[in-house]
Amino acid sequence: MDRVTVVGSINLDIVARASRLPGPGETVTDAVLSEHPGGKGANQALAAARMGADVSLVGRVGADPNADLALRLLRQSTVDLAGVGVDESAGTGVALIVVADDGENQIVVAPGANRALLPAHVEVAGAGYVVCQLEIPVEVVEAAATACTGMFCLNAAPVRPIPDAVLERVDLLVVNEVEASQLGPRIHRAGGMVALTRGADGAELYRGGRQIASARPPRVEVVDTTGAGDTFVGAMVASLAAGFDEAESLRRSVVAGALAATVHGAQPSLPTLAAVEDLL
Ligand code: RIB
Repeated sequence: MDRVTVVGSINLDIVARASRLPGPGETVTDAVLSEHPGGKGANQALAAARMGADVSLVGRVGADPNADLALRLLRQSTVDLAGVGVDESAGTGVALIVVADDGENQIVVAPGANRALLPAHVEVAGAGYVVCQLEIPVEVVEAAATACTGMFCLNAAPVRPIPDAVLERVDLLVVNEVEASQLGPRIHRAGGMVALTRGADGAELYRGGRQIASARPPRVEVVDTTGAGDTFVGAMVASLAAGFDEAESLRRSVVAGALAATVHGAQPSLPTLAAVEDLL
């Protein structure tokens, strides 16, 4: 199986579970507080590893106690963390998350050390799959896209402008409906496939603007959607790396994403390959 290298963010998620999300200027009280390891890059690396892939992670944490908390589950996993460095000038990235009773969330990220990841830190030699998101500097994403000799996957989250050269290099672009509408029809200029995730309505896969596959999720009880999109990305890459075709990889990833929404927290919710295969 080809190695998967994720170049991405590592955060500590500080989560308040509240009855509903606050509106602008509003205070909602009686929330329950918890902390979990998170960050889109770290979540996707762990999701791919739990789906059976051979994974390494390139990223940055700060020289602070939050780094240990953010890396806790990765250290217990098979993910190779040799590419995770410590930056002395900034704290570990932190995400402030509110999760409502219906599973919806609001997230604000203070990137901290994730901003200290540089193009020079990108080491993807030998990786069959390279995965990036947009919580790290865009120059780092460009460097990873250029250095990748295998399949390059970009999850355009959180959405921000993507350089043409990166979009043209992408083999698999993963976007949700909000990201797709913000990026516009330009997403179909991606050199390869576009996976569009639609939450409870599943996901669709496109090539050159034409739909080539779709999958619906199983019915599940949603408690927290945090990390469901990251699970989809990790599962998609792990499934392709395991040799499944595009339609079957999409089916597996939709099931994995649905399972992630049934458990609170980002990394605590990432399903194993066995759990996904049980539900398939
Ligand atoms: O996609 C979910 C992730 O977004 C959270 O873990 C949080 O850290 C933010 O990066």
